[in-house]
Amino acid sequence: MTTKISKTFVITSLIIVMYILNLTPSANADKYPGYLYPSKSPVAPASNHLQLDKRGPTQYDPLFNETLGVVKKFFYDTQANLSINFNPQILVKVTWPIPQSGGEYTPGFAEHLFDNQTALPFTRVYFVGLPDPGHLAGQDPPAQGPYLITMLNLDSPRREDPISRSFRNFLSADYYTFGQNLNTGKDKVWNQPIFEVHNTTAVLSEYNRPLPWIGTGNHRYVILAYRQPASFPTYLAALNSQDPNWTTNPNKFNISSFAKDAGLGDPIGGTLVWISSNVTSI
Ligand SMILES: *[C@@H]1O[C@H](CO)[C@@H](O)[C@H](O)[C@H]1NC(C)=O
Ligand SMILES: *[C@@H]1O[C@H](CO)[C@@H](O)[C@H](O)[C@H]1NC(C)=O
Ligand SMILES: *[C@@H]1O[C@H](CO)[C@@H](O)[C@H](O)[C@H]1NC(C)=O
Ligand SMILES: *[C@@H]1O[C@H](CO)[C@@H](O)[C@H](O)[C@H]1NC(C)=O
Ligand SMILES: *[C@@H]1O[C@H](CO)[C@@H](O)[C@H](O)[C@H]1NC(C)=O
Ligand SMILES: *[C@@H]1O[C@H](CO)[C@@H](O)[C@H](O)[C@H]1NC(C)=O
Ligand SMILES: *[C@@H]1O[C@H](CO)[C@@H](O)[C@H](O)[C@H]1NC(C)=O
Repeated sequence: MTTKISKTFVITSLIIVMYILNLTPSANADKYPGYLYPSKSPVAPASNHLQLDKRGPTQYDPLFNETLGVVKKFFYDTQANLSINFNPQILVKVTWPIPQSGGEYTPGFAEHLFDNQTALPFTRVYFVGLPDPGHLAGQDPPAQGPYLITMLNLDSPRREDPISRSFRNFLSADYYTFGQNLNTGKDKVWNQPIFEVHNTTAVLSEYNRPLPWIGTGNHRYVILAYRQPASFPTYLAALNSQDPNWTTNPNKFNISSFAKDAGLGDPIGGTLVWISSNVTSI
């Protein structure tokens, strides 16, 4: 099972990296009209970074660092809209189930999906590049965490007039790493550990499946990972007693002020997918 996940994941990751590295600002603008690209365009990564087989095992992985840089640059518009500082240290990946086939799908960074591909909650969350010497040494380490994961729609109900921003699609706490580093294959993309993380408590704000209105185009859905401080349960208890229904209304959720109040700090990583209605006309 682990081997299977690992293999699929590594292949998917490779496709993702090639996808990211092939993107240029103009290609991105064509693909997603209206996407505000940083005015200072990032320098396209040198193509020789794709020659993975030539890279020796190093502690500092330039490709990984560069990929984080690309993710950060792609978040440029988004982090301004969220009032957050986004300086990712890890890559975050999530996997949606495919009910028709019983399989699962891990979209690449800034990949486009139809809303019928995200109808069910994502079932796996991976952290790439999370340092953990205990895991790496193959010991039986204590689980690492906790982390908090949230998914938000920034373009609700529509990009031009996002009066519900951010619409909260999901929020769950107490994620921990379990098991061994999955990045053990021969063809691994990054010299970085990959861990699956699992929630160990009930979801706080249940998955609201993305349902972008027909005709409103591609919406930005971001998934952010935060380190969760030891004080979080106290904060949560206070929040629950002050506003017992805080999870029921997903509209206008301000992740910036939530993170501030909860002492979460800045996100340690995140990913973004574009989702549109699969119905193009009525
Ligand atoms: C990683 O890349 C960033 C730019 O994105 C750079 O500032 C930083 O120094 C690099 N880290 C290392 C360890 O070289
Ligand atoms: C924020 O969102 C609006 C509306 O979706 C968008 O036009 C704008 O470019 C975004 N970025 C900033 C920096 O405000
Ligand atoms: C973790 O979240 C899932 C829903 O995504 C839920 O079914 C499960 O019970 C949660 N795990 C624990 C230990 O509460
Ligand atoms: C919370 O929601 C429940 C059920 O909708 C309602 O009965 C209750 O009055 C609400 N509580 C507050 C403080 O709004
Ligand atoms: C969200 O909260 C941050 C920090 O508390 C604040 O600066 C920002 O204006 C808020 N955003 C909205 C849309 O209210
Ligand atoms: C999702 O919608 C797209 C676009 O309408 C369609 O091509 C595809 O078959 C649908 N997929 C599923 C699983 O229903
Ligand atoms: C959209 O997805 C639903 C659910 O998978 C499917 O039944 C429907 O045919 C799709 N619509 C189009 C226009 O493809």
